[in-house]
Amino acid sequence: MKSLTIGKYMIPFPLIQGGMGVRISGGSLAGHVARCGGVGLVATAGIGLNSPHYDGKNFFTADPMALKDEIRKAYEIAPDGVVGTNCMVAVTNFDEMVRASCEAGAKVIVSGAGLPMNLPELTADWPEVALVPIVSSVKAAELIARKWKKGYGRLPDAVVVEDPDTAGGHLGEKLENIGTGQYDQYATVRGVKDYFREKWQLDIPVIAAGGIWDRSDLLHALEQGADGVQVASRFVCTEECDASDAFKQAYLDCSAEDIGLIMSPAGLPGRAIKGNIEQIRQRDLDLEITCPSGCLKKCAYKAGQERFCIVHALDRAQRGDTETGLIFCGTNAWKADRMTTVQEVFNELFAIEGKQSRDQAV
Ligand SMILES: Cc1cc2nc3c(=O)[nH]c(=O)nc-3n(C[C@H](O)[C@H](O)[C@H](O)COP(=O)(O)O)c2cc1C
Repeated sequence: MKSLTIGKYMIPFPLIQGGMGVRISGGSLAGHVARCGGVGLVATAGIGLNSPHYDGKNFFTADPMALKDEIRKAYEIAPDGVVGTNCMVAVTNFDEMVRASCEAGAKVIVSGAGLPMNLPELTADWPEVALVPIVSSVKAAELIARKWKKGYGRLPDAVVVEDPDTAGGHLGEKLENIGTGQYDQYATVRGVKDYFREKWQLDIPVIAAGGIWDRSDLLHALEQGADGVQVASRFVCTEECDASDAFKQAYLDCSAEDIGLIMSPAGLPGRAIKGNIEQIRQRDLDLEITCPSGCLKKCAYKAGQERFCIVHALDRAQRGDTETGLIFCGTNAWKADRMTTVQEVFNELFAIEGKQSRDQAV
């Protein structure tokens, strides 16, 4: 199996661990994935909430400080690994979190939940940081490439194509278009690949995200033209994942029917274990809580049209409140049947014998 090169970074195994907010992929998970030879991503969204920096009011100052702590933690685990961050365009402090990522030494920034049109401008002082937008269509990749080339003389170092029919978390497709059978993940992967080859004579890695659970999914993705995979849900039930035990247990306990779509106050559909959505709404209604921080640029909760705060609901789940916390997951989460380790996941996906390390892999 070929290694992956993103910008100036060689990644022994062609795997990016998908960013999982809020704090599901913190420094521990990202560091261990990087140590095993993949790209480990710290999810930046709301990362300050469950940190010593947060005092209940200072969301925007706590977030970058907590992010830097987590990146530091990841590098303690994987000093030479490829550690990056996932930055969501939809959050109010997108610009600050991108800059904080660079200041803390992130090697890669993967960015979705909107089109990261100004990302190269934000990272201009750190040209070695690889920039990787997440898209769900060829058109979105084209828009980003044209804008980046014209505005900043730069093109993406790789592109993640996320499948709205299988991926977890916020999805880049309209609710009514998800699950219709119309979306063709690998046609999109090949379309993006062809676009960069034909228009820009550039062979950048195109990474498939969504629904990659086992080795056969990985091999299928590579056969279908992907250069690598982005995997998220599969890493939740690992010892190193930053979620609470209760969050992991919810994955172990859920069935395929428990997983579905919700409409996020962020204005995007999201995939989650959806059984407790009314309890989540009722909680904030009972407590008469209103938006505490304005963390999203556009938010139905902030505007008073929705009754729960997505970031706090995700934060509660991360800490172990699975009754009024929101548990994001991909369609395959029900396949989790035991706790494992990041190394074991790598062993299975890449058919690594015994304790073969990333150094032996290349
Ligand atoms: C718990 C959870 C949280 C997620 N949070 C984010 C996030 O903060 N930003 C983002 O771009 N994608 C997020 N995602 C999407 C993943 O990064 C990834 O692209 C997707 O889930 C891949 O599908 P898989 O879970 O089937 O592997 C999240 C997914 C999960 C399961």
